[in-house]
Amino acid sequence: MKTNPEKFGATPHQPSLWTRADALKVRADDPTTTQPLVSADFPVLNNDVFIWDTMPLRDLDGNVTSVDGWSVIFTLTADRHPNDPQYLDEDGNYDILRDWNDRHGRAKMYYWFSRTGKNWEFGGRVMAEGVSPTAREWAGTPILLNDRGEVDLYYTAVTPGATIVKVRGRVVTTEHGVSMVGFEKVKPLFEADGNLYQTEAQNAFWGFRDPWPFRDPKDGKLYMLFEGNVAGERGSHKVGEAEIGDVPPGYEDVGNSRFQTACVGIAVARDADGDDWEMLPPLLTAVGVNDQTERPHFVFQDGKYYLFTISHTFTYADGVTGPDGVYGFVADSLFGPYVPLNGSGLVLGNPSSQPFQTYSHYVMPNGLVTSFIDSVPTDETGTQIRVGGTEAPTVGMKIKGQQTFVVAEYDYGYIPPMLDVTLK
Ligand code: FRU
Repeated sequence: MKTNPEKFGATPHQPSLWTRADALKVRADDPTTTQPLVSADFPVLNNDVFIWDTMPLRDLDGNVTSVDGWSVIFTLTADRHPNDPQYLDEDGNYDILRDWNDRHGRAKMYYWFSRTGKNWEFGGRVMAEGVSPTAREWAGTPILLNDRGEVDLYYTAVTPGATIVKVRGRVVTTEHGVSMVGFEKVKPLFEADGNLYQTEAQNAFWGFRDPWPFRDPKDGKLYMLFEGNVAGERGSHKVGEAEIGDVPPGYEDVGNSRFQTACVGIAVARDADGDDWEMLPPLLTAVGVNDQTERPHFVFQDGKYYLFTISHTFTYADGVTGPDGVYGFVADSLFGPYVPLNGSGLVLGNPSSQPFQTYSHYVMPNGLVTSFIDSVPTDETGTQIRVGGTEAPTVGMKIKGQQTFVVAEYDYGYIPPMLDVTLK
């Protein structure tokens, strides 16, 4: 992996590049980096709602945390509309696929709890209607702050605009369940600046979302990862030698890949509470490779920084491709340089026979990877599908040096705690 010193000038660090040459090494269906087939007879967590991005409650060091023995997850959630005339097809049947595809516009943050780290019980909405300043509540991270049960929920307030925000509340437990109280005052933190990170004015298809705050295990400071695109007018980006990397003869043509400009952003907190943030240049850019590096997150292991991010087939640039799934990079220090895991970056992709079976993978420090079921074919040709909107089977993965290996499969939505906090 190379860096491109021209682009970011005299900044504290140079972003690492996921190059086209790296991406040429991506191989779908390698069993060590492919999610086992999800069966079409999967159980559905709740038939009233679709759920997708899943955000386990955790501490600032990344540990998945239960409280008083209760596991807690937050999910992006939207109502299902089986009886709404708007989602009936010509024959009067529920067009679940259209309903599912429209979900992003009405995404809300919900929470669930469990004694066993699976079979999640419905908690409800985290914020009451009207609390969040925009139409959409998009992904982020719930952080358990202390043994008083205080939680900072960082998330993305979308439409209009896309602002990284946080809202503070408290998790309360009883013998019978979990509730969320507070979450009444949303504080805007920052949005794309057009200088480091692309704005809506520069590109109507910009991405700026999915905050993931963390404490750096080495310097102890509070930082935040997020998804962005590299600043600049759409179409103005250059896919040069550095972005292309060391390709074989005949692979120099980059087509229209200048339109794909994903990056993993990072910000540093100026205060201990994480109310005041400064954006820094991206940790990783994928200019000329891919347009989305979503939900970036870390696993800190063996003194290394394992950076994971989810991406899609449809967001790859001309001349490179790969499955929907989670990709990863590793460095010895926070600011890199980052090297793609498994040579290519691919860590866990969908099998080519079921390209949309899962998405929004989240790698936990115990090597377990959670995701949601998108859609699974129900016939040989793949023309009939069953929509998910529910938790996928959890996958077990080993991370060793610069390689990863799929080693296990667990139950649907299995997200066991790594530590338990007794609330005072
Ligand atoms: C990933 C994602 C996130 C975003 C959310 C919107 O599945 O695209 O990046 O926050 O879904 O629904």
